[in-house]
Amino acid sequence: MKTIRKAVFPVAGLGTRFLPATKANPKEMLPIVDKPLIQFAAEEAVAAGIDVLIFIIGRNKSSIPDHFDKAFELEAKLEASSNHEMLKIVRNILPSHIDCIYIRQSEALGLGHAVLCAQSVVGDEPFAVLLADDLIDADESHCLSQMVNIYSQHHCSVLGIEQVPHETVNRYGIIDSSPIAENLSKVNAIVEKPAVEKAPSNLAVVGRYILTPRIFRLLEKTERGAGNEIQLTDAIAKLLQEETVLGYEFDGKRFDCGSKSGYLKATVEFALQHPELKQEFQEYLYDLVRKQG
Ligand code: G1P
Repeated sequence: MKTIRKAVFPVAGLGTRFLPATKANPKEMLPIVDKPLIQFAAEEAVAAGIDVLIFIIGRNKSSIPDHFDKAFELEAKLEASSNHEMLKIVRNILPSHIDCIYIRQSEALGLGHAVLCAQSVVGDEPFAVLLADDLIDADESHCLSQMVNIYSQHHCSVLGIEQVPHETVNRYGIIDSSPIAENLSKVNAIVEKPAVEKAPSNLAVVGRYILTPRIFRLLEKTERGAGNEIQLTDAIAKLLQEETVLGYEFDGKRFDCGSKSGYLKATVEFALQHPELKQEFQEYLYDLVRKQG
């Protein structure tokens, strides 16, 4: 059985919901307290045993390669001022055995197209896809590690899913499925952003996928779909006609950091977990809420 060694991070979107913050900076570089979203996703992939990170980047995304690269001048300055704590943070963004590969997606033609851009680097192996704006906080094992575990038992594609409020199903890929074990189901159908009254369920695909390489051949033949974009969901709909695709209800809390309210909730909850900040921030929030009645 092939192990999951490579992860694809589609980061070429325009991030229009966060303008003007994302005018010159990618949304994946927005920080939650002090760490950019893309670093959370990269750390999750590394914790799941992945050692090749493939970033599909667009214009204005040079800060992502810069972030994962060595920052020579910064390190020299921190060294000169003996700021060992910060030096350690800057040097340990990723472990040294990790390879980062950047592929330019010249046109933002959709998530499916972004994943297809990774075809030649991924080759004939199963791989992961992580959407960094879905930030998942898990207690013991990260969402992708849980999914890799499911993959190693079932050897097929696995989608990270969660139940969402019914009125929000039109924001997601939604599945129709048959349960096969606790938190695990076989996907029978999938549809991208269905109308609320037509959705097959309220089980939504979140930004975590493990896919077999067969998806690339199917993506090559996928026409533009919802939003006039080449949708990964449409290729997965074809994949499940040929192979088993599982839906896994992961253990953890997802923050939709592609929306302002999700981003703010993540900021507050991560600040309340932050070793340096939690005490002061908790007192501040408590006071604020009390004063507002
Ligand atoms: C994408 C996928 C969608 C999935 C969602 C999860 O949509 O196309 O199927 O449910 O991510 O966040 P987007 O949020 O890019 O519109």
